[in-house]
Amino acid sequence: MLHALGSLTPEQFLRDYWQKKPCVIRQGFPDFQDPLEPEELAGLACEEDVESRIVLEKGGKHAWEVRHGPFKESHFTKLPATHWTVLVQRVDHQVPAVAAMLDHFRYLPNWRLDDIMISYAAPQGGVGPHVDNYDVFLIQGKGSRRWTVGEAVGEDQEIFPNDEIRHVKAYAPIMDTVLMPGDILYIPPRCPHEGIALEACMTYSVGFRAPSQRDLVKGFVASLEDDFSETLRYSDPDLQIQDNPGEIRAEALERAQRLVLDAMSDKAAFADFFGRYLTWPKGGLWEPDEEMPAETIWAEIAGEGVLIREPATRIAYIVQPNAIQLYVSSEAIELEPSALDCVQVLAGQCEIPLAELRRFGENLELRNLLTTLIQKGYWVFNEI
Ligand code: SIN
Ligand code: CO
Repeated sequence: MLHALGSLTPEQFLRDYWQKKPCVIRQGFPDFQDPLEPEELAGLACEEDVESRIVLEKGGKHAWEVRHGPFKESHFTKLPATHWTVLVQRVDHQVPAVAAMLDHFRYLPNWRLDDIMISYAAPQGGVGPHVDNYDVFLIQGKGSRRWTVGEAVGEDQEIFPNDEIRHVKAYAPIMDTVLMPGDILYIPPRCPHEGIALEACMTYSVGFRAPSQRDLVKGFVASLEDDFSETLRYSDPDLQIQDNPGEIRAEALERAQRLVLDAMSDKAAFADFFGRYLTWPKGGLWEPDEEMPAETIWAEIAGEGVLIREPATRIAYIVQPNAIQLYVSSEAIELEPSALDCVQVLAGQCEIPLAELRRFGENLELRNLLTTLIQKGYWVFNEI
C-alpha cells in the first residue's frame, strides 16, 4: 500500500502515533518536488473561489494581522521581506498533482481526510504557536523550517489575539526539529506547534476531520426535522403520590430523557445523516453547463481513457444487510447489495480506467447510476 511513512508500516504508525504523539518521518516523500511554485500559490490566492489568508506577524496593522483573500497581485509586492505567510485552503481541489499526494494517506479512511492546505512563508514567517483540533501531516516543500511541538493542551491554554488562529500560551517543546524538503511532521489534535521558516519555504498540510459532538448533535437533530411522533409522549400510568408536589422526581426525569434518547437512537436515520454530513461538498460543486446525453456517455465509456472523480466530489458508502447506501456530495442513493463491487471502485479510486467500468454497464441499476453521476459532473472523462 502506498504511504509516506518512511520505514514505519501503516500498522506501526496507527499503533504508536496516530492520535497519540507527534513524530517526524524523514524523507516520507523522497526527492520531493513541489507540485506548484510559490508564484502559482500566490496566483491561487488571487482567485475568487479559492479561500486564502495572509498572516503577518510583523509589518501589519498589529501583530498577527490576518488578511483574507482573494488578493490583488499587487498585494504581494507590498509585503515586507520577512515574517509573513500566505495560506491557501483546499489546493487539492485546484491542482491534480496536489490531490495525488492524498493517495499516500489511503491507509486512513477517506472520510477522515479533509483537504490539503498549502502555505508559503517568507523568511521567519509562520502563524505563531497554536493548536489545531485535527490531526495534521505537515509536509515540507521548498526551503526549510524549524518546528517545535508540545504536549496536548486544553482550551484554557488558548489565547485570542484573533479569532482565526488558536494561539496558545508558551509551551515546553517535546520536539524541536528542522524539516527539509520531503520530511513530514505528524501532529495529533491539540498538540501546540509552531513552524518558523528558516528561509522562504512551502508547507503542505494534509488535514483531517473529526466531527465535534456539538456539530453531530445539532446536525442530526436538524436532519430529523419534524420526524417525531406527537402521540409518543410522556406517560406515567404507575404514578405514585410524592411528598412534595413541587419536586421533579428522578423517575420522571429518566422517563423524559428516555423519550429524547429513543428519538436519537434510530440507527438507520443516524447512518443516513452521517453519510450526507460527511460527503457535504465543502468547497461547493462544479456543475456542467449541459447534461451529457446517456448515449454519449456510454459511447465514451466504450472508448479509451479514464473517468476522473472531480476533487470536490465526496463519496462514501455504508453496507447494510439488504442494501448499499451510497452518498455522493450529500445525496443518498440506495442500491442493491450486488452494487458493492461498482461502489468500491467508485469510492476507492480517484481515476478509473474506462475498460474497468464497461462491465458495470450490463447491469441496469449501475448503468443508470454511472450515467447520473457523470451527468451531474461528479465524475468527468479524461483522455490518456
Ligand atoms: C503553516 O503552514 O504555516 C501552518 C500549518 C499548521 O501549523 O497547521
Ligand atoms: Co497548525
